[in-house]
Amino acid sequence: MKTINLFAVTTITAILFVQVVFAQQPLPQLGKAPIGEIVKMMTLEEKALLVTGTGLRFAGSGTAIGEADGRVPGAAGNTININRFGIPGTVLADGPAGIRIDPFHKGDSTKSYYATAWPVGTLLASSWDTALVKKVGVAFGNEIKEYGVDVILAPGMNIQRNPLNGRNFEYYSEDPLVSGNMAAAMVDGIQSNGVGTSIKHFAANNQETYRNTINAVISERALREIYLRGFEIAVKQSQPWTVMSSYNKINGTYTSEQNDLLTKILRDEWGFKGMVITDWYGGHDAVAQMNAGNDLLEPGSKRQQQAIIDAVKNGTLDVKILDRNVERILTYILKTESFKHYSYSNAPDLKAHAAIARQAAAEGMVLLKNDKGVLPLNKGKRIAFFGVGSYNTIIGGTGSGAVNVAYKVSVEKGLINAGFSSDQNLASIYAAQIKNDLLLHPEKNMTLGKTHLIPEPELKAEDINSAAESNEVGIYTIKRNAGEGVDRKLADFSLSDIEHSQLRQLGDAFHKRGKKLIVILNIGGQIEVSSWKQDADAILLAWQPGIEAGNAIADILSGRINPSGKTAITFPVKYEDEPSAKTFPGNLTDVIYNEGIYVGYRYFRSFGVKPAVPFGFGLSYTTFGYANLKLSAPAFEGKMVATVTIKNTGKSVGNEVVQLYLTAPHSSLDKPSEELKAFAKTKLLKPGESQTLTFTLNSKDLASFDPGLSAWIADAGKYEVKIGASSEDIKLIKSFTLSKNTTVEKVHHALTPLVAIDELKK
Ligand code: BGC
Repeated sequence: MKTINLFAVTTITAILFVQVVFAQQPLPQLGKAPIGEIVKMMTLEEKALLVTGTGLRFAGSGTAIGEADGRVPGAAGNTININRFGIPGTVLADGPAGIRIDPFHKGDSTKSYYATAWPVGTLLASSWDTALVKKVGVAFGNEIKEYGVDVILAPGMNIQRNPLNGRNFEYYSEDPLVSGNMAAAMVDGIQSNGVGTSIKHFAANNQETYRNTINAVISERALREIYLRGFEIAVKQSQPWTVMSSYNKINGTYTSEQNDLLTKILRDEWGFKGMVITDWYGGHDAVAQMNAGNDLLEPGSKRQQQAIIDAVKNGTLDVKILDRNVERILTYILKTESFKHYSYSNAPDLKAHAAIARQAAAEGMVLLKNDKGVLPLNKGKRIAFFGVGSYNTIIGGTGSGAVNVAYKVSVEKGLINAGFSSDQNLASIYAAQIKNDLLLHPEKNMTLGKTHLIPEPELKAEDINSAAESNEVGIYTIKRNAGEGVDRKLADFSLSDIEHSQLRQLGDAFHKRGKKLIVILNIGGQIEVSSWKQDADAILLAWQPGIEAGNAIADILSGRINPSGKTAITFPVKYEDEPSAKTFPGNLTDVIYNEGIYVGYRYFRSFGVKPAVPFGFGLSYTTFGYANLKLSAPAFEGKMVATVTIKNTGKSVGNEVVQLYLTAPHSSLDKPSEELKAFAKTKLLKPGESQTLTFTLNSKDLASFDPGLSAWIADAGKYEVKIGASSEDIKLIKSFTLSKNTTVEKVHHALTPLVAIDELKK
């Protein structure tokens, strides 16, 4: 009896002691205690709040738990702060072409927060220069950091499956190798500043029509080789802090609810270490999203929080899964500048960044035509500028890919800055047209689905003739704009009647007088170029070049910079030539990718369809010789090194983009005629100077994805290495052999289509 009493007393004392000590102990703090300790102490409600962002609902409304602190007005989203654990709120902002934040803070017009509009993704990819893209990323990242943003919702890296996708300008290419390497370079550059990226939209978000619900029906092979491959490259090379799942479904399930995609493939196979976030309001089942490994739901809603809490309580969501997601979010927060209390300046060096934007813009522009060396133009020439885009140049697309800029340099302004003169009569005709139209349609670049193009004014024959008479050269700018929320229409791909007739009239007027007409394409995606190109003596594909647009265009036209960009997308002769023309954008519910792996040049080359502008094409003011292709061995043993020597055989300093395509032997799997496996850009070469470039092929470069085996298989046989100046201009060929069929990588059986797809075969 005595003993029992003693035991009871001792136990009670011990419990009381633990409780007192526990109550007195401060709560574990982020950065000081292990993350697991914090998660252990968090309430279910706190966890549910952390996995849902605060986003647009609360922007600017104080610092209480569950609300954004409003530090960066205009930012797309936040994660919440939980002060008792020392967890700060963090800031996520758009987007791929520059930071999209409000240029002014409420009640204070004395200070501005303008940002640099970088050249759009399609232009950057056309530079084929990962070092340049990284340089842009380094400057971009500094701007992100100095404006107090922790994660930029970029880069966008979906495959440009079809020319009419309204967001193509945000993305890099039709080819996953280009997309993946560009994205990796951008991520490396941005993240070198200690801020994060969110590669998006994972995956197969290749259209805006019904983007929140569309089910993309895609074969496992096309997914693995085309639509996932770029993401795989970017994740493996650069470990982005976050990945943004997309709005669409793939083979029946929302991507944000797909464990196969977000856990098995992204994390288990590719080794992704960061956090997955939804696209804004993406998916519909918060619990399925948690289970799939979509850690953060943006912008987050009370409904989602409640669903998560209820699911844990009723056992349909294992709290361990929720804890795992919370841990990933805390791991992210630990890395942020918000956590480190970085005192950002709100004053990034916009002037220095503009200079980098200008250089990058010039290096991604593509010279499509230059008859009789009409370009470069001698300084001081009198120019007649036609086309609204010459005066109101489109610097980037609309929606979340738009940027609030302090200024933009038009084509005309850029050439005036470079010492050329502009016809004043024409300038006043266009100024009136632009002014009148802007009164009716004020620019709303930030608003989704708002893409208005100022119409071309009717020009009188006498205005055209007198401009052709009194100026030395004509420039006609053709402009296009598009953006989030809406796909382009076929009419946007084609030239309008007025554009056609003005081009013809201008061609006649200038040529009759022995003068030249230059066309500038101020566009974010493909347009039709075959039917009118004879009217132009030179065509510069300037894309949407960012804030310094006109200055960069002037750099190319004046010869200050020798064009070195090449297209990273194919321009079809007519829209119907596109392999996805019949299926894009699908019906109300599904879009069937029945072209399979035959996207872009893979299709045009394999099926003998002549494009208007081939993938990888671009001219220079100089010429290059290709020689001396050597392979490291006659047979493949784990890797193959190819070297080739490029010589500047012309008269001006320039650099050349060189592409390595591979033709693989046929087996049971259909193979495209060629696939891009490596690329490089020479340094600036003086006339007569050479450089030897080295390319390395590894086993996976030889392999195709066999869905039957869920494996990447390299077939035995003969492989041809083709070194090209473009996909259609192969300069040198050498072959090697692979002695036996090789399983390069075995992966999960995942993302299987629910219906049979009648896929295109050679
Ligand atoms: C877009 C994303 C963007 C997000 C936040 C979505 O509608 O698809 O690309 O990052 O909004 O603004």
